[in-house]
This record gives sequence, C-alpha cells and structure tokens, in this order.
Amino acid sequence: MNNPNSSDFPKALHSILADTDSAGFTMASEPLTGSLLKTLAASKRGSRFLELGTGTGISTAWILAGMDQKSSLISVDHDMKFLDIAQKHLGNDTRLTSVCEDGGQWLKRNKGDMFDFIFADTWHGKFLMLDETLDMLHKGGFYIIDDLLPQSNWPEGHQDKVHQLIDTLEARKDLVIAKMNWATGLIVATKI
Ligand SMILES: C[S@@+](CC[C@H](N)C(=O)[O-])C[C@H]1O[C@@H](n2cnc3c(N)ncnc32)[C@H](O)[C@@H]1O
Repeated sequence: MNNPNSSDFPKALHSILADTDSAGFTMASEPLTGSLLKTLAASKRGSRFLELGTGTGISTAWILAGMDQKSSLISVDHDMKFLDIAQKHLGNDTRLTSVCEDGGQWLKRNKGDMFDFIFADTWHGKFLMLDETLDMLHKGGFYIIDDLLPQSNWPEGHQDKVHQLIDTLEARKDLVIAKMNWATGLIVATKI
C-alpha cells in the first residue's frame, strides 16, 4: 500500500528524475502524491487543469498521464532553470502550456479564468492568494495541496502557517475536504 504500482509511472518520469537530481532540485513530489494526482486527473474528462509550481515537471508528468487528450494543463513557475527541465521532457505534449512567471502575477493577470482541477504546489494558491485561486475553481472541481505534514527542513513558523491554512480550508462552506495523513500530507478539496 505504500508503493505505487511502478507500471503506472509516467513515461518521462525516470528521465525527469535524473535531470532533477543533477539540477539539485529537492522539492519534487513523491510517487504516492503523483499517483493520486494521476487518478484524480483521470476523473476529469475534457477539462482545464492548473498547476502552480511546476518545478522540474514531476507532478506535471503525473497530471498529464491522467488527463485525456481533450484536456489542457497550464503550469506556472518563476524559475526558468527548473522549467527548462520540464520543457525538455514534456514540451512536445500539446496539452501543456508552460508559463514562466511569478505565481501572484499570473493569478492577477488571469482573474476570471476557470479550472476543473488545481494543484497548488507553491506559495501562491496555498499560503498566498488562496481566495483568488479558489475563485478560479469550477463547482465539482478539485483543489489539491501537499506537504502538510511536518518536515525537518521547515523554517521556523511554517507549522503555524500550515495550521492556519488547514483551519481556513475547513471553515469554508464551499469546499468538501479530505485530510490525508499519507505521503507528505495532502488535502483534496471539492468545490460545491
Ligand atoms: C514544491 S516546488 C514544486 C514541485 C513540483 N510541483 C513537483 O511536484 O515536483 C515549488 C516550486 O514553486 C516555485 N516558486 C517559488 N516561488 C514562486 C513564485 N513566486 N511564483 C512562481 N513559482 C514559484 C519554485 O521555483 C518551485 O519550483
């Protein structure tokens, strides 16, 4: 139960992981999280997906692996060094639009745009501009976040931010949420 089925791994994953290691990127999503993203993505047919925080494209690859051919994914990161790795391995997939921009700027610029699935894996969309991000989620859409269980490398005060975020999400009347004490700690929310 603690190991995802390796035959489910996205095709590009092994080569992305090799480049991720070489680039010294240490914030990559783990396979359990990826398998959940892929599973949830597969439930949304012909849908619009948003990822905030592409990194080197690991979670992007998992989301794309679950999406059908009529769906599209916008993935945003402000660091071209990491985005280049995602582009190298996933750039041929016409369903993907990679954007190099500050997450906050992107959210402001695209206010009113709507999505069926949002994976928020950076500051914006999670600890910053949460309301603006949730405004972009259709009813019935998924909002997913990870890294909610304590990590040894968290800076002082981060635990309080996480508690505040969880309290805020629990208090919202327009979300049904599941807290998962699994992988790095996830919340899956559905907008109602
Ligand atoms: C946790 S990592 C993303 C990991 C990736 N989703 C994965 O699963 O492998 C967070 C990412 O957010 C990006 N980031 C940090 N601050 C940002 C900002 N203000 N705007 C856009 N991206 C940002 C970092 O460059 C980093 O790639």
